[in-house]
Amino acid sequence: MTHRHILVVDDPEALAEAATRYIVARARQAVAARGSFALALAGGSTPRGVYRRLAHAPWRDAMPWAQTLIFWSDERALPLDSTDSNYRMAREALLDHVPLPPEQIHPLAAQGDDLDQAAARYEAVLRRLVPGEPPRFDLILLGMGPDGHTASLFPHSPALDATTRLVVATPEAPLPPQVRRLTFTSRLINAAVEVLVLVAGADKAAPVREVLQGPRRPHELPAQLIDPQAGDLWWMLDRAAASQLSTLHE
Ligand code: 6PG
Repeated sequence: MTHRHILVVDDPEALAEAATRYIVARARQAVAARGSFALALAGGSTPRGVYRRLAHAPWRDAMPWAQTLIFWSDERALPLDSTDSNYRMAREALLDHVPLPPEQIHPLAAQGDDLDQAAARYEAVLRRLVPGEPPRFDLILLGMGPDGHTASLFPHSPALDATTRLVVATPEAPLPPQVRRLTFTSRLINAAVEVLVLVAGADKAAPVREVLQGPRRPHELPAQLIDPQAGDLWWMLDRAAASQLSTLHE
């Protein structure tokens, strides 16, 4: 059964602080329990404040970097050094500033003509490095777009119906950058020990309400697919993103 929690904080700064605190606590717990911490990063702009905090004292010094493995929950079909690549954002905000052994960083390379093959290659990496069947991440970070997408699971995408794969290629995204993507499937996300969805801003208020309190319509609102079966699901929202929720009892 999913254990869903919703935390609402004042603003994007407080959101970044709360998420950073949570990630560090989960990392230390995972290392104590299992000896390593497999973390999948999210793209988009909301996690940038988290990455910056993790990159600097005091949080940087509290993270078990030597036991941390970094992956991405989705990536755009662009060169990894593109200013629109999720990898590059995380590298500049976080990875360039922390003592993480380079061989523990696993970019989701979405280049080349055959994205299906690229997805299969990443699946093989995950199966080798993340224990479990399907592989069980210690923590997967996600965001949500104004259309209710999460990772690169866009409304009505064929990726929503991938029930056996772990990573799939998608058609061109309907939102910028309008390129194809590679994305974790809901099967892989829902196997995680912890999933953290970070959402900020008034433009997300209606989709947050629909996803969390509206009728189940996962093809219109793919974020509704996120439901870790034996894990914890945290939605962390700023006040603007939570402004249309009715009273929370969670
Ligand atoms: C991507 C993302 C995507 C993102 C949301 C929210 O590659 O675009 O992984 O799912 O998390 O679109 O993005 P913002 O944080 O920028 O609103």
